Amino acid sequence: MIYARIAGTGSYLPEQVLTNAEIAQRLDTSDEWIVSRTGIRARHIAAPEQKTSDLALIASQRALEAAGVQAADIDLIVVATSTPDMIFPSTACILQAKLGAHGCPAFDVQAVCAGFIYALATANAYIRSGMARTALVVGAEIFSRILDWNDRTTCVLFGDGAGAAVLTASEEPGILGVELNADGRHQPMLNVPAQVANGEIVGTPYLHMDGGAVFKFAVKTLSDCASKALAAQNMSHEQLDWLVPHQANVRIIESTAKHLHLPMDKVVLTLPEQGNTSAASIPLALDVAVRDGRIQPGHTVMLEGIGGGFAWGAALVKM
Ligand code: ACO
Repeated sequence: MIYARIAGTGSYLPEQVLTNAEIAQRLDTSDEWIVSRTGIRARHIAAPEQKTSDLALIASQRALEAAGVQAADIDLIVVATSTPDMIFPSTACILQAKLGAHGCPAFDVQAVCAGFIYALATANAYIRSGMARTALVVGAEIFSRILDWNDRTTCVLFGDGAGAAVLTASEEPGILGVELNADGRHQPMLNVPAQVANGEIVGTPYLHMDGGAVFKFAVKTLSDCASKALAAQNMSHEQLDWLVPHQANVRIIESTAKHLHLPMDKVVLTLPEQGNTSAASIPLALDVAVRDGRIQPGHTVMLEGIGGGFAWGAALVKM
């Protein structure tokens, strides 16, 4: 039996940090409001000349180095992003060129904040079926460019960044199981409705969200999804070492942790300093906890996330 294992992780955050206090200087909001409602204190903002593929490139190079894998050995690239460099080609193809890893299949998946789980599931299926042996899976976003910076209900929540994982074929179980779901009926709750047509942007190019509805839906759905992912492996919450959730709101994360009977010191939290980086948030958090030594080889980790679509998923991983 062939499994996919995470052989290395990497991440990148742009240099510029934007604090709540700085946002409060130009909008009717406060550090106290943002921290108490979301847990977010600051977020990173990409420089004007940086593209999503630039963030992805640095995260990927760090993941390749950690895995001891050369770019030329990659035989699959999957990038999860909702903020691609351009309409086409895919950010994965642009990343492939920047990495100098020519020839292998490369494509984007778009599942917003659940994107990394979808990308991981895709790469896992390629490796398990023998279609790939070494896959680069990336979540990369520049959400700061699809926010209305005059809308205090959304702009305080998001940040930019990238995270990556190198998956390699192994006889030892790595990715144990993945649960994926979507329900397109909920698209009005969270979207960026714009399209490009006939040389014009049609519809608003800024993120629109019904925050309260998203909150309630996320709390219920993520708990159910995490339970299903455990049950599918005949595992119980006691066997989990870490929860690495999508970083949207600390109250959503606390509720999922409670449902899994996990204390918050078993939850990787990067939200306070990074905000919600959409598809990048899970691999960013995973990389932080791998590099600071909290997540160790042999640990069992639950990754989970939900985002616009709505699309959501969870992955159980043996590191
Ligand atoms: N600063 C100050 N006041 C604000 C701000 C702000 N940044 N934003 C909203 N308010 C005001 C509102 O205008 C409202 O004022 P009003 O009562 O005078 O109308 C008041 O605060 C309360 O607003 P609510 O929307 O009810 O506040 P709530 O407690 O629901 O918190 C929040 C809003 C933080 C958006 C919350 O609903 C949430 O986190 N939802 C989840 C959204 C999310 O995580 N989205 C990420 C994308 S999806 C994903 O990644 C899962």
